[in-house]
Amino acid sequence: MSQLKAWRAAIVHCIADPKEVGTENAYEYFADGLLVVDGDTIRAVGDAETLLPTLPHDMLTEHHPDGLITPGFIDTHIHYPQTDMIGSYGEQLLTWLNTYTFPEEGKFADKTHARDVAERFLKELLRNGTTTALVFGTVHKVSVEAFFEACEEQNLRMICGKVMMDRNAPDYLTDTPESSYQESKELIDTWHNKGRLHYAITPRFAPTSSDEQLQLAGQLLGEYDDVYMHTHLSENVDECAWVQDLFPNSKNYLDVYDQNQLLSERSVFAHGIHLCDSEYHRLHETGSAIAFCPTSNLFIGSGLFKLSKAEEYNVNVGMGTDVGGGTSFSILQTLNEAYKVVQLQNENLNPIKSLYLATLGGAKALRLENKIGNLVAGSEADFVILDKKATPLLTSRLALAQSIEESLFVFMTLGDDRAIQATYSAGQCVHLR
Ligand code: GUN
Ligand code: ZN
Repeated sequence: MSQLKAWRAAIVHCIADPKEVGTENAYEYFADGLLVVDGDTIRAVGDAETLLPTLPHDMLTEHHPDGLITPGFIDTHIHYPQTDMIGSYGEQLLTWLNTYTFPEEGKFADKTHARDVAERFLKELLRNGTTTALVFGTVHKVSVEAFFEACEEQNLRMICGKVMMDRNAPDYLTDTPESSYQESKELIDTWHNKGRLHYAITPRFAPTSSDEQLQLAGQLLGEYDDVYMHTHLSENVDECAWVQDLFPNSKNYLDVYDQNQLLSERSVFAHGIHLCDSEYHRLHETGSAIAFCPTSNLFIGSGLFKLSKAEEYNVNVGMGTDVGGGTSFSILQTLNEAYKVVQLQNENLNPIKSLYLATLGGAKALRLENKIGNLVAGSEADFVILDKKATPLLTSRLALAQSIEESLFVFMTLGDDRAIQATYSAGQCVHLR
């Protein structure tokens, strides 16, 4: 039985990569738009006045004259167990991990704690308009079970995995090559493709895995068609030097993963700041993606991601908040920092490209572009309603905006969770401000 419902507001979404078709052809904008949803699926999007006469006249319609509807945002790299340590002071990556991160992650041996944090984490994502995320758990199998159970209750499209790490970390946070393989496999068999959930094989980063563990991670990835691989790559200069010492037989950082068959169309590498040309090339060749995490890269002082290099080599890129190294759950605020990272390299980040990275580009990085990332008919009904009058400053500034590009740019500069009026996942309201 059809359950049609419509939302009337301004609507903008990307339909292609601006790099391939040019900015003007990469998006659709309807100043007075209508989004028609049938249960959990988008039925139509277009001009309200064109669509309305074609639809049942008693169809339930919500009107948001101050709203701007966009697809739900996609966060391609975040750590749910780091929710409560966001904003930890004063350190760069390796000291930051030992001082703050590892003790915090130790708490996730307790499933009750894990479930409590998972619920608060999901609330935070949804109040920021993020409907899909690629998420790190901890080394504890129960951390991933708690997370997936919380997602399942709200029918969210989420990807998560148990951290694999067997060295250079405290004893209370290490597994073994065999136990990490076995537990990851059990989690895949229980959770991967259950409803809207997916599994990511998650070696933390090269320094915390032995060769044996990385080799088994690659073997496991090869056993499935569509399981993800999620790790960190080339984030911090001290980390890169350490990887060289630990893996003297690798050509570069990425090659450590490559030698273990960990590059694939469903492999996502967070950061990728200090890469050489052959690493970009290899990421492209294998269809791997990079998660660009500007708030984290600035906050832990890692460096400036070279978006133009990734584009030159045609590497898929999505946006990541990297909470708790990142400082905000908001993809709008993450785009604000991304703009500045690009500015510091004497380039510009166009707001349409930003919208793309946060939605359809992220979906492509995760190979989910046939399900999420825009509002075309047949897509899952994951969307947000932005409020043009969310704050006094947004109200006055947006009143002067001359184009949808300018309005988007203002939302990305001034907006945060306050700008999110409502978030929908599979047609259901999962956040209302
Ligand atoms: N590299 C290895 N582990 C981590 C982590 O938890 N956060 C970040 N930002 N980088 C890492
Ligand atoms: Zn991270």
